[in-house]
Amino acid sequence: MNRPYNFSAGPAAIPEEVLQQAAAEMLDWHGSGMGVMEMSHRGKEFISIYENAEADLRELLGVPAHFKILFMQGGGIAENAIVPLNLSRAGVVDFVVTGSWSQKSAKEAAKYASESHIAATAKDSGYTTIPAPDSWQLSRGASYVHICSNETIHGVEFQELPDLKALGSDAPLVVDFSSHVASRSIDWSRVGLAFGGAQKNIGPAGLTIVIVREDLLGHALPACPSAFDYQIVADNDSMFNTPPTWGIYMAGLTFQWLKRQREGDLSGVAAMEARNIAKAKLFYDYVDQSSFYVNKVAANCRSRMNIPFFLRDESRNEAFLAGAKQAGLLQLKGHKSVGGMRASIYNAMPIAGVQALIAYMQDFEQRKA
Ligand SMILES: Cc1ncc(COP(=O)(O)O)c(C=O)c1O
Repeated sequence: MNRPYNFSAGPAAIPEEVLQQAAAEMLDWHGSGMGVMEMSHRGKEFISIYENAEADLRELLGVPAHFKILFMQGGGIAENAIVPLNLSRAGVVDFVVTGSWSQKSAKEAAKYASESHIAATAKDSGYTTIPAPDSWQLSRGASYVHICSNETIHGVEFQELPDLKALGSDAPLVVDFSSHVASRSIDWSRVGLAFGGAQKNIGPAGLTIVIVREDLLGHALPACPSAFDYQIVADNDSMFNTPPTWGIYMAGLTFQWLKRQREGDLSGVAAMEARNIAKAKLFYDYVDQSSFYVNKVAANCRSRMNIPFFLRDESRNEAFLAGAKQAGLLQLKGHKSVGGMRASIYNAMPIAGVQALIAYMQDFEQRKA
């Protein structure tokens, strides 16, 4: 059976091999007589799943030894509070607002920081650009600077992480990488903390990944709940409370799948990045030459993962979506705040899925209104 191509922004498509392996292991994991959901998180079976997932993620993303990898719960929205609870030291925190997600983060941080300062915003462009880093009004002595490195709703992506030191700031950079983690390499020398929900590029909803430089641990505000205190979570190997065991297992299967991926001489995340560049180029090139569809994001900050696009004649939106569904192309409706369509083409989307979408779009354009 050929499954439809699923363009959901999240929870999103999971590689079929991963789903099949999980199905095969559902009732009896590796002869243990238990399914993963039924295992104690402190038993040797689950500990091995956890340790392999952590080690594979560290290897795939090239995470240096002086960063901790935490497996938490609560998603990106909870991290909008957990990060300032741990890192703000009740001081000023800076935000670069490039879309809905960084805007939400700035609003939430204001509850815990003395000031949530907007160092730059792309609001005037309708969030179709990223303000040049040398124009950011960074605060002196900020506790951290927050960016969302891929804005899932507006389809805007940093092609390079900012070098805060070069901008004259000693503050750690906090990165919400929810919707493009594991799709490209990360320069950890520029990062203090990165967080993201798993449900786009890594696995099912319920698991949140936090990767944090060790020197940033141990500064939580007194009101910070123990389960959200990064130091406590790290000291307990993410098992201060019961971790999201199923999510960690599924993420682990995805990491093994990622390690098996090859593009020419490349493997793992580098192979995915090459594939993601090719997929995104194919799609943007098609939309750009079309007089029927349009993408409004500036060329130098277009997301490789989430591509909002519009029919120039919006009265045909419903027909477009209905036809797409019939053609086996699912969940293309744009976010309600932006409208139009959105194609999310995460790691699990093969290039054949993008080709099928373009073929459908060409066909739809040919049809009579
Ligand atoms: C970039 C980004 N940050 C944060 C979130 C919020 O994540 P959650 O709903 O898991 O809390 C999302 C969800 O789509 C997102 O795309």
